[in-house]
Amino acid sequence: MTKVAVDTKKKRKKKPEGDAPLPVPHIGHVKKKYLLDLAAQHGSPIFVIDHERLRENYHEFQRHLPDVQVYFAVKANSNPEIVKTLYDIGCSFDVASMPEFMIVYENIRHLPKKEQQAFIWDKIIYANTIKPIETLKALNKYKPLVTFDNHYEILKIRDYAPHAGLVLRIRVPNTGSMVELSSKFGAHPGEAVDLIIEAFESGLVVEGLSFHVGSQCTNFENYMQALQIAASIIREVEYRTGKKIRILDIGGGFPVKYHTGIRSIRTLARKLNAEIKRLFPKDMQIVAEPGRFLVANACTVVAKVVGKAVRDGKPCYYINDGVYHSYSGQVFDHINYPVLSFKKGGETQISAVFGPTCDAFDTITLSAELPDLDIGDFVYSENIGAYSHASSTYFNGFPPAKVVHINK
Ligand SMILES: Cc1ncc(COP(=O)(O)O)c(C=O)c1O
Repeated sequence: MTKVAVDTKKKRKKKPEGDAPLPVPHIGHVKKKYLLDLAAQHGSPIFVIDHERLRENYHEFQRHLPDVQVYFAVKANSNPEIVKTLYDIGCSFDVASMPEFMIVYENIRHLPKKEQQAFIWDKIIYANTIKPIETLKALNKYKPLVTFDNHYEILKIRDYAPHAGLVLRIRVPNTGSMVELSSKFGAHPGEAVDLIIEAFESGLVVEGLSFHVGSQCTNFENYMQALQIAASIIREVEYRTGKKIRILDIGGGFPVKYHTGIRSIRTLARKLNAEIKRLFPKDMQIVAEPGRFLVANACTVVAKVVGKAVRDGKPCYYINDGVYHSYSGQVFDHINYPVLSFKKGGETQISAVFGPTCDAFDTITLSAELPDLDIGDFVYSENIGAYSHASSTYFNGFPPAKVVHINK
């Protein structure tokens, strides 16, 4: 056997410069040291999107709900690279505005018109029940599925987007969900059948029924009740009109494990699969619009301590990201993102963490357990991918955190 000479001298790795990607240490899991390296390379604050985690989440959802077509709710995080990654693995999309529609459309722009049309029909739903006339006019030529929930919307769709396929959104219990949606959207179940008949009589085609149980829904009863309500509406429509409703859209709401104690998608999926099988015909197309579930745990923020004070004996840290920026989900999405230190061990103290703006409202927490931090130290928050960067502002002249993609 011939021996191959091996150079045992370790070569020093050159630090990548500028925006060149750092080597990823462990596919799918962002290591602390790696986050610090990214902050050193890109500056801070950074909003790190792990594309391997996006793919894992999509496949996990599909694994547990194999008969459900997954429409990513773009509103949760409309970063075009997220949409691209999900597009590449076959995801469908729920859009709520023309700009969101165009983010998805960019991925199919190169296709022949016929294939574009097939994609839009099969894989996009415009799931905002209220659509401006200009939007309806723009959408009409693409013939997408659109949701509606009231009489006035039927008139608008009839006049400006008669080629769209319709999906009636109904109001269902949102009990206990973190973000309640039923006070703003959804036809009362008692008027659902009449609205569907009115749409048919206006010359439109109603393809489906949809609901949303509220975002971050940990009360699985909401889904069970919604399915029951939807099934009886569909049966009554068929009985009264002889027409078939082909699509059932079970919306979003799929909970993320922000903390232990939140039941897994497996438990929810088992219940959903059983009830769907019991209540609906085999050929019913079931679709879902998960937003948070696909993106929340795929993103991490790294920010820097830029100021420090002790007020009434309590350490107060001022970091360069806050409630007007990546932490905006604390306001709009009612989620707290614990602020964590990279320092290992040592004593911790209850500390306040504030964002960089001049507003006292820009308070991330008054009760973080943190070791003694110095100006220039970094902190991080995990599970911050949903409804966070999407609602970041430029308040006080501070721009949103720089987005850094890993594992693309
Ligand atoms: C119509 C619709 N579909 C889907 C979603 C996504 O919900 P979630 O992020 O809870 O999955 C939302 C969120 O507001 C929504 O309004």
